[in-house]
Amino acid sequence: MNYQNILENIYNQVQPFLNEGKQADYIPALAKVNPEQIGVCLINMKGEQYSMGNAETRFSIQSISKVFALAMALNLEGSNLWKRMGKEPSGTSFNSLVQLEIEKGIPRNPFINAGAIVIADILLSHLANPEEEFIDFVRSIAQSETVNYNFSVARSERTCGYLNAAIANLLKYYNNIENDIEHVLQFYCLMCSIEMNCKELSQAFLCFADHTKEFNYKGVRLSSSQVKRINAIMQTCGFYDESGEFSYRVGLPGKSGVGGGIAAIYPQRYAVTAWSPRLNSKGNSVVGMKILELLTTETKESIF
Ligand code: DON
Repeated sequence: MNYQNILENIYNQVQPFLNEGKQADYIPALAKVNPEQIGVCLINMKGEQYSMGNAETRFSIQSISKVFALAMALNLEGSNLWKRMGKEPSGTSFNSLVQLEIEKGIPRNPFINAGAIVIADILLSHLANPEEEFIDFVRSIAQSETVNYNFSVARSERTCGYLNAAIANLLKYYNNIENDIEHVLQFYCLMCSIEMNCKELSQAFLCFADHTKEFNYKGVRLSSSQVKRINAIMQTCGFYDESGEFSYRVGLPGKSGVGGGIAAIYPQRYAVTAWSPRLNSKGNSVVGMKILELLTTETKESIF
């Protein structure tokens, strides 16, 4: 498959969509990013890389970090994790409070904010140095020692994150948070603030792309079933209340973030990341989704 030609073609085709949507501004630091950027990088199982545009520009990965946090939490808790959250699509926005109240403090899945806040709590309970251990794990799967948190983005989100604070309070009320709420929220925002580029994200997601290979990075060891199941949750819950639409248009497991990144996996073939900051009303990158839709359409490669 000539992925380089295909990506170049797609890159030209998505230019007219560059002005559609709106970049996230509820985290003030994200509103400062130049929205007229597009990056894409595909890495296959042989390690061959194909990229276009701003593939080496780092951006805020935001909710994409929830996949890495889930991997760590599954390693620590195994199936006990599912006593504290579900694995069903939520059908509501990523920061919804309503469902959490009706379901008595048990988040629908690990990728909505409520679920990821419980995961942050679990990591704090288990790890001696959670901040260090989390970034070390991400650096190791991304094969990049310079990947880091952006402390000012984390602070910017924590200062204005009233909705996440409400979610954390509701979780605590239902006894689904063990640690101090402020500490949990700070750690959650820090995980979301990691900056990576399309190449680094694709490299990191490649570790999840083949569940038949051993997953063992910085002490995070997952069984082949666990890796397979992380992919399953990405497929059903990776795009919040647009997971069905993503599945329909793209047909790959993946995860988005409000920084405009989308990382996706073709199991046993490749990992691909597309980035462009402007988002649709569900919080997913307009151009990112378009790129991946064109990729699976033009290559006729998808899991379906
Ligand atoms: O908690 C938040 O709202 C952000 N740190 C992450 C949200 C996010 O990326 C949702 N993604 N599409």
